[in-house]
Amino acid sequence: MTTTDPAPVVTHGIPREKAPEPVLSSKPITGDRYYTPEFAKQEAEALFPRVWQVAGRVDQIPEAGDYVTYEIGRDSILCVRGEDDVVRAFYNVCQHRGNRLVSAPVGSLAGGDFQCAYHGWRFGDSGTLNWVPDEDDFLQGSPCGKRNLVEMPSDTWAGFIWFNMDPDAKPLREWLDPVADHLDGYRMENMKRTHWVTVEGNFNWKCVQDNFNESYHLPYVHPETLAVMNEHHSACQFDLYESGHCRMLMPGGGPSPQYSGRTERTLKSLAQDFEFWDFDPEPYREDMSGLRVALQQQKRLLGEAKGYDFSNYSDEQLTDHYHYTMFPNISFSMKPDGCIWLRSTPHPTDPEKCLFDMWYLTQFPEGVTEYYSNSMHDFVSIDAQVEHQTGKAGEVSCGRGIDQDVAIWDSQHAGLRSRGFQGEYMPHQERRIRFFHDNIDKHLEMGPL
Ligand code: FES
Ligand SMILES: [Fe+2]
Repeated sequence: MTTTDPAPVVTHGIPREKAPEPVLSSKPITGDRYYTPEFAKQEAEALFPRVWQVAGRVDQIPEAGDYVTYEIGRDSILCVRGEDDVVRAFYNVCQHRGNRLVSAPVGSLAGGDFQCAYHGWRFGDSGTLNWVPDEDDFLQGSPCGKRNLVEMPSDTWAGFIWFNMDPDAKPLREWLDPVADHLDGYRMENMKRTHWVTVEGNFNWKCVQDNFNESYHLPYVHPETLAVMNEHHSACQFDLYESGHCRMLMPGGGPSPQYSGRTERTLKSLAQDFEFWDFDPEPYREDMSGLRVALQQQKRLLGEAKGYDFSNYSDEQLTDHYHYTMFPNISFSMKPDGCIWLRSTPHPTDPEKCLFDMWYLTQFPEGVTEYYSNSMHDFVSIDAQVEHQTGKAGEVSCGRGIDQDVAIWDSQHAGLRSRGFQGEYMPHQERRIRFFHDNIDKHLEMGPL
């Protein structure tokens, strides 16, 4: 009798090809970009109206008539699911005399219309003006069916509702290239938002995106990470894509070879992961170089039994950090059990403030409704929409690691404001920041939309 080996697991995973390096400018990134009203005005007129942005999660509006609003700059965007199940995005502006139509961040029409609080004009869930008081009193003809809500391109991807204020915007999927192709395997549309925190920060929105475009700060802002990831730039891959989006691949599941700390610290930091995956780290106590691959193999072995479908993931995705920054203001930090989703929204009137969002999207194992998130160190439930926590930096927590980032942006913004700041002086490993600012400049050069 012969024994046959089990069929090899077919893994697709995210392609790891290195993108060609773009030519970058050498223009100084000066402090005025972060605090002057003039620069913020240019961003508001030439940058944000041209980019795809996220208004919310699709599962916030499951029924016809359900809606969410999102405020960007001086605009409020109203996204609503119509009777035909199509999600549409409109400017949240009454077409009578300009009153903001809807004030709630989320709600449901429950079979009715949007009714303006000022003079009662009523708009349906596809934006049509259905009724006005004294319809026969308009010398220029009835506005009904004519003065409808102003619609803009919108779409959904990965369970997010997207909109773009540019009527000639390229399709979302094209805009997302190649990030959507890379991240489709995570099936984020099945993930549930289990943490939703918004910090009102005293820093410009670009402090946030700059920060997530580099890992140079890890040893100083997050010293504990040294024990569990190979953060040195020589071990990481940085890809800068033509579309303006970037990514960083950083090995996890153990320290870097340069790590000179105690082994105990690594074992303690990864203890929950080891326990969840029934993994014995003892054989790696003396030499930790094999730990990462062994952990990958164990996750592969037990994934199905633990309720996960890892068939779309490569081995590296089971331990490493796949961090994508989406131009201009979003980051996706992918984990095997979910995604840390980060966004900075400029303040509508003050460039020295912004709203920073941290969402954790949890991939619940099959059949599980209560789950201990290894990434968030917290129990989460699939059944309830998570409560939205908002507050100033220090009042609400985004989790320990991100809180460390938030704390530094405050003091960085203060320094950028100083007349003693001469513009940055960055190492090569921070080139995603320069790429980000070059791409902002390309948009500003186009002028107001
Ligand atoms: S402004 Fe909306 S009905 Fe008058
Ligand atoms: Fe950080």
